[in-house]
Amino acid sequence: MSLTLAIIKPDAVGSGKAGKILAHLESAGFTVRALRLTTLDKTQAGAFYAVHAGRPFYDELVDFMTSGPVMPMVLEADDAVAKLRDAIGATDPAQAAEGTVRRLYAESKGRNAIHASDSDENAAIEIGFFFSMHERLGL
Ligand code: CMP
Repeated sequence: MSLTLAIIKPDAVGSGKAGKILAHLESAGFTVRALRLTTLDKTQAGAFYAVHAGRPFYDELVDFMTSGPVMPMVLEADDAVAKLRDAIGATDPAQAAEGTVRRLYAESKGRNAIHASDSDENAAIEIGFFFSMHERLGL
């Protein structure tokens, strides 16, 4: 078993889709190991997406990710990083496969419902960004 980080983004939380997305992920075989509802400020969102700093969509991404509550969560499964990326689909919902979270629930490439870590190394960093040591002791 391994861990990854998902974030249900402000578009999906704000339109009441968080429960459906959570149920979808549980049905796909993930176990939720930690979860919270929080609102990021610009410094926090900018730091989380620092890898994208300087790209044309960066300011829009930070504005969007601070526009309302988000729901970060630690998910566990066999090969969790790859499995979650399969389950959520392509960044652009128009190109995401049938039955994926983004195909079902995302609005656009920017407002795309969910984030997922892209490697085991980044999953560890991103889990540490949102969850404190005491919340991770059981992981
Ligand atoms: P995410 O998986 O959270 O990682 C980076 C995010 O940047 C991505 O999802 C999209 O929401 C966003 N993003 C990537 N490309 C674009 C783009 N061309 N325009 C707007 N947002 C983008």
